[in-house]
Order: sequence, then C-alpha cells, then structure tokens
Amino acid sequence: MNAFYHSSPISYVEAVVQETKKAVISYVFSKSALITPGAAEILSSTPDFRSIVDEALSRGHFFITEDIVKSILAEREEKEEAETSESIPLQERTEVGEKEVIVLKTRFKPIAKEYEANIRFFEEYDVTGKSYCEGTVDDFIRYFRDRFERLRSILRKRPNTDIRPISRLDRVSTGQEIHVIGMVYDVRESKKGHLILEIEDEEERTTLVVPKDSEIRRKAKYILPDDVLLFKVVRTSGGLYVVRDFFWPDVEEHTPHYADVDLAVAITSDWHVGSRLFIEKALKKFIDWLHGRVGNERLKELAGKVKYVIVNGDVVDGVGVYPSQIDELVIKDIEKQYEAAAQYIAEMPDWVEVLVNPGNHDAVRRLEPQPALSKEVAYALYELDNVHMLGSPTYYALERVEFLVYHGTSMDEVISRVPGLDYAEPEKALEEFLRRRHLVPTYGVKQPIVPERRDYMLIERVPDVFACGHVHKNGYRKYKGVRLVVSGTFQEQTPFQLEMGHIPTPGVIPILTLSDLAIHQLKVYNGGNNGTR
Ligand SMILES: [Fe+2]
Repeated sequence: MNAFYHSSPISYVEAVVQETKKAVISYVFSKSALITPGAAEILSSTPDFRSIVDEALSRGHFFITEDIVKSILAEREEKEEAETSESIPLQERTEVGEKEVIVLKTRFKPIAKEYEANIRFFEEYDVTGKSYCEGTVDDFIRYFRDRFERLRSILRKRPNTDIRPISRLDRVSTGQEIHVIGMVYDVRESKKGHLILEIEDEEERTTLVVPKDSEIRRKAKYILPDDVLLFKVVRTSGGLYVVRDFFWPDVEEHTPHYADVDLAVAITSDWHVGSRLFIEKALKKFIDWLHGRVGNERLKELAGKVKYVIVNGDVVDGVGVYPSQIDELVIKDIEKQYEAAAQYIAEMPDWVEVLVNPGNHDAVRRLEPQPALSKEVAYALYELDNVHMLGSPTYYALERVEFLVYHGTSMDEVISRVPGLDYAEPEKALEEFLRRRHLVPTYGVKQPIVPERRDYMLIERVPDVFACGHVHKNGYRKYKGVRLVVSGTFQEQTPFQLEMGHIPTPGVIPILTLSDLAIHQLKVYNGGNNGTR
C-alpha cells in the first residue's frame, strides 16, 4: 500500500511545525500507511510521534485519523498521571518505600522550606575564572607532569612496595622483584600474543612485557593509553622487565558523609531546551511535583525534601553543535534558549537551590575542563538568585555530602575503549573514572583536554556522590562506598541516537536523599520509545 497525504493550505502553520509534519508524513510513509491532514497536524506538535504511529499500526489502523491519534494521546495522558504517582525505588528499598508512613492529608508542607541552604563550594577543583592556558608545548609538558606527579603520589601510598624510577631499572639484578610507576605511552600486542607496554616517567621511557599466558594478562586488557600505573616487575636474565602485577591509583573503600537533616537533591541533566525533541511537559511535570501538585502522599513527602536541583550540563541544545542542527531546533537563538531554561527554573519553588554546570551542547568552550557559562550568553540564568553557575567538572558539598559533578562527555571515549562497557549500563564508565582517578583517562582526538597548569580532570578528593549525565540513560551503582549516578534527560531519542542504537530514558529523575544516599527514581514521562515503559 502506498502512503498518501492530502495537502491543504497551511500558510498559518509555523515553519517548525511544517518541518515536523514532514517528518511525521515521511515516517508514516516508511511504514506503508496512510494519514489524514488532521492527524498529521496533531502529531507534528508531539515529539514522540513515532511511538504513536507505531501504536496505531500495532492496533491495526493503517489509515491514521485524527480520532485514533486523539484516543491514543488521551490514554497516554491517563497512564502518565498514574505513573507519576509511583516512585520506583531502585537497588535498595528506601525508607520511604519500606516503612509505613502515616501521612495526614493536609496541605503540602515542604520540609525543605524550613532549612537554609547549606552548600560549600570547593573552588580549587573548578576551572571557572582560572583558565590561563595558551596551548603551548610547555603547557602540555607542564600539564602531563602535574597529572603524572599527582597520580604517582596516590600510587606511592600503596604499602609494601619497593619503587624505583625508570632510570634506575638497569641497576636491578636478574630475578629481583621491584616496583616502578609509569604513564602508559603505548600498548600493543606482540606477534606471539604478549602485551608490550611502553611506559614513561618524567625522565625516561622503558618497555614492559605482560606474558600472554600469565594470570594478569586478562586484567591487562583494561589498560588504557595514558593510564598511570604501579607495576610489580621482575628482571629476566635476558634483560626484559616482566610484569607480575599492576595497580591503578583507584579509590580505597570510602566512608561517605551523610546529612543530619532529611533533605534531598534532584539530579538532572541534558534538558536540551530549544531542541524540537525537548519534552517540555515532562520538565513541567517535574516542576509541578517539586511544588507538591502531583503524586501520591508518599511522593509529595519526598518532593517536600528536595532542597537542591542539579542541572548537569546540556541545559540547552545549543546552536551549531553539529552540522544541520538548525533543522532540529525550535529556538534557534542561543540566548533565547537560556532565557527559556531560566524561565523553567524560575517556575521551581523558591526554597530550592539550583546548581548548573555546562555540557558539550552548552555555549562555552567544548574542551574540558569547562568553565561556567558566560554571563553574556546565559544572563537569564545569572539573574536568578537561587541559581549557582559552576564549571564541569565541579565539586561541592550539600549538607556535608560531597559531590563530584561532571557532565560526562568523555564517557563516549571510555565506553568505546574499555572492553565490556556499553551505553546500556553507563554507570560502569564512572567506575572506570574512579579506578583511574581521572575523568578523561586517555588524551585523544575525540576528547582533547585544555592543558591547564593544574589537571582539573584528575579525581584527587574522593567524593561521596559522583554524578554524570551526557548519555541520556539513567544508571546507578555503588563503587567502594561512592554513590554513582548517571542522570537521564528531558529529550526524546534523537535521530543520531536512533542510528547508533542508543535508547534514552527521558523523564526519569533520580532523587537522592542526603541522610542515607538512597536513590528514589521519579518518572514524569511515559511517552517515547524509551525503553522505560
Ligand atoms: Fe545531552
């Protein structure tokens, strides 16, 4: 069956809607179905039109009319209402989920309103206002030296080691076991299957061998270029240095801080305001929830605890981030995108503090570390009293609980390099960052770093909570006592994600209670082909 579409005079329709309508029609066409102009009109202002078309087809409607679309939309609306009233406790059963909570049905009384904000910014870990780099060769040398020295000092704390500089390795006798610290310059496999590592310190370079049939060969496949490692090596009679074991700087088992007040933080990212795929109704529902306007009593009680909202980058979709992005935008002016974002924040309760840092779509240098958004472009956000503008990465404590917040752009690189990682479980990438004590383990073409005097991407202070965004897929994990959180998005699946097979989880917000670091997952959106239905 061929698709057809009766065009009608539509001069009054905005150009944007026209574009989406074309997309609707071509999608229906690709499914060999028919659609009426009225139905196409409604779907052109519905970001998740594909799933509605799919649903109509699955119900056997190959001629999609206005009535069919309206009835599917109405059903979804109803289902969403029901969904918002359920929080989905993850991993551990949370206090709110487990205990019998007797809540009197009275007016919404947010406990967060009764407390002053208690935020401590660790400015030494944020590049904002401190970027002195000129990108000279000297800058790079100084940068890598700083990175090496600081990671080496972490590795040196490891007990029972006999560490020698590379320049003294030739004094080691045959059969003697010693330790050496080096940055991995190159990793390759020899013809016989051994792993050959070239490592260097600030003075010299040397070659180490990981034998193919050794116990540590499996672990060694996770070694990345630029890793700084502590190797236990033995010198063979042939003058080779064979690796017996090796260690990443890693974090030790961590005892987190807990708040002594019962407040919470909503961790969001990737709003992508300005994109035609931005799901405004999901963000508005979240704001309604913060006000205690939606949800059951249990959820309202949780909403009342939210004192802080984190917006971890990609606040807006940006302009010119990739070729032909202009076709994907409903707000094509960057300042207006930030004005719109600021408007949503202004609609949040006035007792909430909002912490904003940039991502790769925002109007600030794309290279990391990223300073806070500029006052010239994002003035609308600076005008709000309860908004704190920070860099990425950044570090702060909320009610004593320490947060490392990084947009997560380098997750793409780590996921592609580390065996066994994929976008379905992005939280595992955070574990790799912590193991290496670095947010951009491999300096590369995809993810160049600005060689600042100090390496801001290095994880020196172990946080209680480590939050990333970027991948548009929620994920949670604990690693050695550190709570890992990958927040989701307020954007539908993009054509790029569709092509790459990435399934986002829009409208799912982790709410972290600060007294126990438990995650309560809030779902404010049920549409889209997002795998969360
Ligand atoms: Fe994003």
